[in-house]
Amino acid sequence: MKALVYHGARKVSVDNVPDAKIEKYTDVVVKLTTTNICGSDLHMYEGRTDVEKGKILGHENLGEVVEVGKAVDTVKKGDKVVLPFNIGCGFCANCERGLSGFCLTCADQSVMPGMAGAAYGFAGMGPYAGGQAQYLRVPYADYNCLQLPPDATEKETDYVMLSDIFPTGWHATRLANLQPGESIVIYGAGPVGLMAAMSARIQGASQIFVVDGQEDRLSLAREIGATAIDNKNGDVGDQIRELTGGWGADCGAECVGYQCHNSAGKEVPNLVMNSLVDAVKATGTLGVVGVFVPKDPGAEDRLAKKGEIAFDMGKFWFKGQKMGTGQCNVKTYNRRLRDLIHQGKANPSMIISHELPLDEAPSAYKHFDQRDPGWTKVVLHPNDFARAA
Ligand SMILES: NC(=O)c1ccc[n+]([C@@H]2O[C@H](COP(=O)([O-])OP(=O)(O)OC[C@H]3O[C@@H](n4cnc5c(N)ncnc54)[C@H](O)[C@@H]3O)[C@@H](O)[C@H]2O)c1
Ligand SMILES: [Zn+2]
Ligand SMILES: [Zn+2]
Repeated sequence: MKALVYHGARKVSVDNVPDAKIEKYTDVVVKLTTTNICGSDLHMYEGRTDVEKGKILGHENLGEVVEVGKAVDTVKKGDKVVLPFNIGCGFCANCERGLSGFCLTCADQSVMPGMAGAAYGFAGMGPYAGGQAQYLRVPYADYNCLQLPPDATEKETDYVMLSDIFPTGWHATRLANLQPGESIVIYGAGPVGLMAAMSARIQGASQIFVVDGQEDRLSLAREIGATAIDNKNGDVGDQIRELTGGWGADCGAECVGYQCHNSAGKEVPNLVMNSLVDAVKATGTLGVVGVFVPKDPGAEDRLAKKGEIAFDMGKFWFKGQKMGTGQCNVKTYNRRLRDLIHQGKANPSMIISHELPLDEAPSAYKHFDQRDPGWTKVVLHPNDFARAA
């Protein structure tokens, strides 16, 4: 089969690799019809993780079940399914509590003592191949496949967002403990930040502020109904206080991650976290879904190399704020978010800028990595050649 393979920093190519196959009776194989490139892939693409060369990337996957393991009960050949980017078992102590992003069975314990969580095609998240490929092996298929309704093909580019960014945006608002009628400040107008804004709107936020420096992305935030805050127009905390009676937003979401940068494009790893503490009111909660890594040897910053940032602990403590972090537990949300899409209450595909065949993935990575204007979200169709054309 054809797959997008990582060969080193900014080196990816579409190669012929062995077909994905059933390895355990609890697996299925899915023929992928849509798979996305994610901001998380860029951390690996840029060589800023320890992902191994030869890894097939891609964790935002949707397709049709073509092979079913003997022990799989509810998933049938021909089902259209979307796969959470996390791989969970469904029966460990964390999966049982709905923390499917922190599965103990599927985690690779050799990475870090006490490590939990697994994902397709991802640094430090186990040996699983990604789905920027024609076929994907899905472990514990009864747990990990979400079946789609009859409008699966018609709304495929909406449903594929259930694999990651729509639940992750929603998770940011839940970690931030957003309540109906409250205001929220969201840092990052990338796909995740935009999905957080859409989620906040659905949950009845009174004001939604989306912070970024890229006009094309800020205009999508406006389309969603948010107030765009350009970080080039001065201190973000001051801009937010001005719009919230002087107190700051009720809660906040971090949807940028450790590679955040200042308006001159220089990486300043603590910039967004400290600005978030500043822009959220005293007693407010911060939801941090942007990725931070335990080690970043490729960073220029001395602390960042060790996975540390200089955090405004004093201001955070004095304001009595709280914080939630981590990978999204996609399984907690994806079924209900699917139904919002099915009933026409959510349209996450509105952020897609490009639909391409798999062969064009390497050049798509390049454009998306450079944050070229207009490259917001790339969707690949590895087997659906008519649609990708
Ligand atoms: N927790 C999870 O489960 C999970 C899931 C998916 C993605 N993520 C992470 O979420 C983050 C965002 O993902 P994405 O796909 O939207 O990525 P992206 O790179 O497309 O978007 C990030 C945005 O942040 C903006 N930005 C950079 N510095 C900024 C600053 N100082 N202030 C405000 N905005 C700034 C960039 O201009 C860009 O638009 C990434 O770190 C990604 O790895 C986490
Ligand atoms: Zn993703
Ligand atoms: Zn588990």
